[in-house]
Amino acid sequence: MSTPYRLKTWDEYVAAHRRSIDDPEAFWDDVATNYSWRKPWTSVLEWDFVKPEVKWFGGGQLNITENCLDRHLATRGDKTAIIWEANDIDHPSKHITYRELHAQVCRMANVLKKHGVKKGDRVCLYMPMVPSLAISVLACARIGAIHSVVFGGFSANSLVDRINDSQCSVVITSDGIRRGAKNIPAKTVVDEALPSCPTIGCVLVSKCTDDAVPMQAGRDHWIEDELKAVDAICPAEPMDSEDPLFILYTSGSTGKPKGVVHTCGGYMVYAGYSFANVFQCEENDVFWCTADIGWITGHSYIIYGPLLNGATSLMFAGIPTYPDATRFWQVIEKHKVNQFYTAPTAIRSLMAAGHDLPSRFAMPSLKLLGTVGEPINEEAWHWYHEQVGKKRCAVVDTWWQTETGGIMLSGLGDITPMKPAHAGLPLPGIRTILVDQQGNELHGEAEGYLCIDFPWPSVIRTTWGDHERCRLNYFAQYPGRYFTGDGAKRDADGFFRIIGRVDDVINVSGHRIGTAEVENAIDEHPDVVESAVVGYPHDIKGQGIYAFVICDHVRTDKDALRKEVIATVERIIGKIARPDKIQFVSGLPKTRSGKIMRRILRKVAEGEMNALGDTSTLLDPGVVEEIKAGKGMIA
Ligand code: WT7
Repeated sequence: MSTPYRLKTWDEYVAAHRRSIDDPEAFWDDVATNYSWRKPWTSVLEWDFVKPEVKWFGGGQLNITENCLDRHLATRGDKTAIIWEANDIDHPSKHITYRELHAQVCRMANVLKKHGVKKGDRVCLYMPMVPSLAISVLACARIGAIHSVVFGGFSANSLVDRINDSQCSVVITSDGIRRGAKNIPAKTVVDEALPSCPTIGCVLVSKCTDDAVPMQAGRDHWIEDELKAVDAICPAEPMDSEDPLFILYTSGSTGKPKGVVHTCGGYMVYAGYSFANVFQCEENDVFWCTADIGWITGHSYIIYGPLLNGATSLMFAGIPTYPDATRFWQVIEKHKVNQFYTAPTAIRSLMAAGHDLPSRFAMPSLKLLGTVGEPINEEAWHWYHEQVGKKRCAVVDTWWQTETGGIMLSGLGDITPMKPAHAGLPLPGIRTILVDQQGNELHGEAEGYLCIDFPWPSVIRTTWGDHERCRLNYFAQYPGRYFTGDGAKRDADGFFRIIGRVDDVINVSGHRIGTAEVENAIDEHPDVVESAVVGYPHDIKGQGIYAFVICDHVRTDKDALRKEVIATVERIIGKIARPDKIQFVSGLPKTRSGKIMRRILRKVAEGEMNALGDTSTLLDPGVVEEIKAGKGMIA
């Protein structure tokens, strides 16, 4: 018996999931045969979640770009691979065919080679959402270099940490980044970072905004000039299944961001398989994922997933509210988008901009709507389903993580039933379970900690340079299991509803921010002695950042101080981590052993002053009274 690659009915889903549990190796062996391999694998899976060590398709060799590009040339050479829609509405959009994309990736790969980049080297990308970003990502993969994309909203300081952690040898950037009405001087940020990055010998700069930027002779090169001087043929480097494909940094509950490592074979199989089944694209459909390629969603569902399936992927350089809050609907209408995949934060902000705005646009092409990144509340879910999808479109709420590489829980197109605000069922091959605090598995209808009990092809392999950190973060809490860090509920039908993070991670607009990271940044302000950061419910962003800050002397100019603290966070991490609220306090609620009781701070931030629970174990219960009283003064 074999399982179809692309499932088309509920019965096929049930059968595929059953088989993936009963005989995972046979199941994945079948799925993987849908790709082109240089050398077949000799072992489907070897694993040990205690070490942890996971190997998929061992002995096999492949190059993911052959699967994304070369494989399609005979049948889809003239099909559009990427539609690019610019930030500015009057800027012409671009259609890039598979043949053109193939040639451009090969050229860029040759540019990288010319500058000495070899298999296994790390390349950092700090770029706007332009085709040359997707091309550069694929060019790295073509020659076996490991890409590390850093989102344009991160500061020079964050860039330094990421470049140095993985010892990148090259940075690819652009003159500037235009997002909405804002301008990020990308090249200037890179210039600011590089004096602290001894491993970087070369900067490749793409001309995107025509901003004048200084070029350092010998180090900096214009990509457009370099491309003219190289060949459009570049053989793909054969990669072992378990060779790293990319590193992507993400925040955790402690310390600095960690570099999540994904590998060539398993990531390819799962990104492709999950895309095919969740979004159910037909051959001539246009798929649009609104994420930035700086996040995993962009990696898996703008670049790799769609291209592996020969789909047409729309890439948008702008933001939902520029020039106004109808931009998404205009783009859907203009490019006849069939599948639209965005974040609850965007949905909530567009809903707030005018409930009936989508109705002004004809969007008959839409067949499926997806959400990702954070829990979607029922009101937003219904608005999306009714006002955007006109009740005709399936809505899939996709739950997954940077570490999972692809979607884990979701509806599959319209073949599985939908439940508002539920991420739904596990994909075939995914064994999600709930456990209690002690790690006992909970059965049936239950609420608990969400774990995954068995490897899937795109499970995180390691955190770059620090395997122990990977073990401690994901595999140590409940030995033998991957722990997601999320709490979830399962209903009587087996549908999951994600509650949210149970660790010290805040989810702001679908972006993961570590509270410890923000605290460390705030503490860099010369007047700050200590700080504690918690999340609180935010109407649009899902969660906002609330900071309690202790200073070493009383300053009366609280507004100026607040601005300075925000500027410090922007400098150390980037704009995405700026606190929404700052409360200056003289002490923090701590236990006798010195641990901050965040539970109390969370309640204060939520405004639930009378539900603080037991405060008798505090070193100084008086602190709580002061914090409660001061809360009224916060803007
Ligand atoms: C965390 C992962 C990979 C998606 C982009 C974010 C939260 C993600 C959902 C969802 C509820 C969700 C979880 C998860 N999350 N998708 N559909 N419903 N929560 O990736 O930055 O790695 O964050 O985002 O809390 O652990 P990420």
